[in-house]
Amino acid sequence: MSKQTWLTGITTSGTPHLGNYVGAIRPAVEASHNHEQEGFYFLADYHALIKNQDPALLRQSRLEISAAWLALGLDTEHSTFYRQSDIPEIPELTWILTCLTAKGLMNRAHAYKAVVQDNLDNGASDPDKGITMGLFGYPILMSADILMFKATHVPVGRDQVQHLEMARDIAQRFNHHYGEHLVLPQVVVDERGSVLQGLDGRKMSKSYGNTIPLFESSKKLRKSIMKIKTNSQEPGEPKDPDGNTVFDIYKAFASDEQCAALAEAYAQGIAWGEAKQQLFELVDGVLSEPRERYDELMANPAQIDAVLAQGALKAREHSRPFLEQLRRAVGVA
Ligand code: TRP
Repeated sequence: MSKQTWLTGITTSGTPHLGNYVGAIRPAVEASHNHEQEGFYFLADYHALIKNQDPALLRQSRLEISAAWLALGLDTEHSTFYRQSDIPEIPELTWILTCLTAKGLMNRAHAYKAVVQDNLDNGASDPDKGITMGLFGYPILMSADILMFKATHVPVGRDQVQHLEMARDIAQRFNHHYGEHLVLPQVVVDERGSVLQGLDGRKMSKSYGNTIPLFESSKKLRKSIMKIKTNSQEPGEPKDPDGNTVFDIYKAFASDEQCAALAEAYAQGIAWGEAKQQLFELVDGVLSEPRERYDELMANPAQIDAVLAQGALKAREHSRPFLEQLRRAVGVA
């Protein structure tokens, strides 16, 4: 079998939270240490621009998210770590793919449809109210990210699975027209709980304002965890771990034995406060060392940018010749 290429990106639109860690950062860090495969890990700052038009926030988020990946041990020697906007070949490929992509395919994107549905529910006169072409074409930019580096495996949260199907569709269409240039990527969903629940039990997401930040102080982390919404069951009442947010997050960090022990404690009627305390201790233990490295990096942003600049050079060794090949294939070169 030929060498696998793993690639994933994270949108730089906020402070990294536990959901990002479980869904994207942890699998990427683990994969980056596997030298059997090639790894590309990047900051999707052009994706962030779709929803965020605050330049200072965008910059801050880029630093925080890069620092998080580095602090958690991403192997930047064996893998390539860069930011999307440093690779001009990506938007060039995006345009080439845009010219091949059926509008109908984009009409079916869940993220787009959700906004249209909101507009309809709110009685807006235009169902496309507030929707930019950036949002509409989001899956095409994401396809370019993936196809540019011939990724074979793309680890993402479950909510991104449709985008991967679209990337395959678009690649197939390109290959059908122009010959077998693009590699069809395969989605990898981390079953340990790649979509984590947030404070209110919905998916942990910046857009719901229900996140637990990855690198706040121990004290603040405890406070956040104590805010997780639970039901009104009293201590002593047996509790159901299924679908319970505290358990959901615990599971994403714990070993099988630890999970079994907490499930047993639930059956015995553990108090919510105590379950949360156990969750805090577990998560705090995992994050305390990386937290120190994170603080050091954030105090020295030039160091972060130097790592990213190095990564961009490495990434462009792939993207430049490959885009040239694609430009020839479509007839603009
Ligand atoms: N859309 C992804 C998310 O929101 C981020 C992303 C952008 C990505 N480009 C990508 C993920 C390419 C994997 C591959 O989580």
